[in-house]
Amino acid sequence: MADLLDSLKLGDLLLKNRLVLAPLTRSRSGDSRVPNDLNVEYYQQRANAGLILTEATVISPSAVGYAKTPGLYNQQQVYGWKKVVDAVHQQDAKIFVQLWHVGRISDPELLNGETPVSASAIKPAGHVSLLRPKREYVTPRALEINEIQAIVADYKHAAVLAKEAGFDGVELHAANGYLIDQFLQTKTNHREDEYGGSVENRARLLLQVVDAFIEVWGADRVGVHLAPRRDAHDMGDDDPRGTFGYVVEQLSQRHIAFIFAREYQAEDSLSPYLRPKFSGVWIANENLTPESAKKILADGEADAVSFGKAYIANPDLLDRLVKNAPLNELNPETLYADGAEGYTDYPALK
Ligand code: PHB
Repeated sequence: MADLLDSLKLGDLLLKNRLVLAPLTRSRSGDSRVPNDLNVEYYQQRANAGLILTEATVISPSAVGYAKTPGLYNQQQVYGWKKVVDAVHQQDAKIFVQLWHVGRISDPELLNGETPVSASAIKPAGHVSLLRPKREYVTPRALEINEIQAIVADYKHAAVLAKEAGFDGVELHAANGYLIDQFLQTKTNHREDEYGGSVENRARLLLQVVDAFIEVWGADRVGVHLAPRRDAHDMGDDDPRGTFGYVVEQLSQRHIAFIFAREYQAEDSLSPYLRPKFSGVWIANENLTPESAKKILADGEADAVSFGKAYIANPDLLDRLVKNAPLNELNPETLYADGAEGYTDYPALK
């Protein structure tokens, strides 16, 4: 069965191996949200992966939930991303941009005083990440039905800019309790219009954005990031099999390139139920160890394996996995800090 170093057909692309860099928010693109030379160096160091998924990238200024995360809605951002893409392509790795709207996981301070939006006016439990003084999330405003197509248009605009920047494709961030997930799951969607109630309605926004991406890119260059584990940002669903099963079937019918499933090793993992419904590439993620990742590939339980924290701390992760070398420890203090420390200064093997 498959090995980490085997190539992999992903849509019409060929990946040089089966290791994937997970999307990782690092908050190092400044207030302009334009990728910079330090970001180029960070991605270049990790282009040993067959596929790089960029950190979550906002589709508009109103999609923002964290300071200094990059965007893809203006021309400066296209130029900044193009430098990242070119550096990654020089090492024969492929790179998809993860497109993001946070919905209710934000704060008026990040939105020019505006109230965050969501499927319904339901306040998330917990505190806003990284903002000081520490504060609870506010109650979001439910999007009016006539506002929804403008958000789909923002996603599509970002997908068009992604082509200009030279990316290999786009990944929709439909996971981790952000806007698309807020529409999808029952705990956060109490709407009574065509975007709420039945699973067909709750998945409507997700599929409308996917269809917009397919119009721009073709299905071969579109991926979707799902979190069937449902535990991020106060999420929940009354019928996870029904909800995620429907989404996976719909995505399979559209022949998109991949699904990235954040949950693989969870005790109540839905992946063994979901994966047979999908015809494309299945990328496993979350809590993988070098051993479990190799076993998942060998057993054919996923087509590719993705690491986040281990890739932050080990720029040369592929080499270390192949050699069974020890891994550097992650320093959580520098995850969202400024500058090179804890970003581009983790050492490679001698
Ligand atoms: C985070 O910064 O904590 C974060 C960002 C995006 C995610 C999940 C977590 O999808």
